This record gives sequence, structure tokens and C-alpha cells, in this order.
Amino acid sequence: MSDQTFEPKIVGFLCNWCSYRAADLAGSSRIKYPPNVRIIRVMCSGRVDPSFIMKAFALGADGVLIAGCHPGECHYLEQNYKAMRRFSMLKHTLRAMGLEEERFQLLWASAAEGTRFAEHVSKMTEEVRNLGPLNWKKNWIEKDLSPDEFDKIAKEHAEAMEVPA
Ligand code: FES
Repeated sequence: MSDQTFEPKIVGFLCNWCSYRAADLAGSSRIKYPPNVRIIRVMCSGRVDPSFIMKAFALGADGVLIAGCHPGECHYLEQNYKAMRRFSMLKHTLRAMGLEEERFQLLWASAAEGTRFAEHVSKMTEEVRNLGPLNWKKNWIEKDLSPDEFDKIAKEHAEAMEVPA
């Protein structure tokens, strides 16, 4: 049975041009969704290197979301198709490592789709909550890392992409 007091930590890599704005719209429209997603803004979903995902899980995330522009609408031509291919490959690898697939999700959401974004986050949060904590967190504790590490990832990304943190 799931522990309803468990609050999953989900890291969301959101494309600056669409999903990040969708999240912003959800917030400004006061659409309710769980506050469990720690957002890291990237310039494009194609910028999300598989190592970022592994690092997020290794640092204690219970779930990771990548969100980008709909196929055909990427501001960098076809980079979200690259994101899609990487997502499929990494999902396969993570499954082989015993990670439940609900923990790693991909969402397309345009800047106008605040509701779609909020609904997806709500659904994912419940799915991950039902799975319980990911035991990779042990790594995080054993290595004496802290949640501040998420801030470092965000900072590294912001610098790399010249987006104000
Ligand atoms: Fe949004 Fe590429 S610019 S996914």
C-alpha cells in the first residue's frame, strides 16, 4: 500500500520556450497542481543530456520529467526529436536497471497549455507517490550530498544556456 504522507521529489527539465511558459501560465492562472516538481529551465528539450537525468536520480530525485515543445514546433528545428530518441533509449536502460517507468516521463506542452502541464504533473506526482521513494536516495546520503546539489545543477545549466537562474 502506498504511503500518502510521502512527498515525491520530481526534477523537471523544462524547455524555456514552451513548457516553462506553460508552467508559468499554470501558476499565473492559479491552476492547482502539486508543488513536487523542482523546475530546471533549459533552452530546449534537446539540451537535456542523459547524464543530467542519471545525476538527478543519483542525487535523490524520485522522478524526472522532461518537457518540451510539441514535435514540429521546436525553436531549434528538430532538437525535440533528438530528445525523444534519447528519452526512449534512456527509458530502456533505466527499466533494465529496475527503475519503474512512471518515474521517468516526457511531456510535450506548448506555452498555452498550462492546464495540460498541471494535469500531467498531478498525474505523475500521484504515480510516483504510489511507487514510494526511490532507493537511489541511499547513494545521495552515502555520498554526503544534499538537496543543495539540485541548486548546483540549476546553476550549471543556467550558466551553460545563459538563462538567468
Ligand atoms: Fe522547446 Fe526545442 S525549443 S523543445
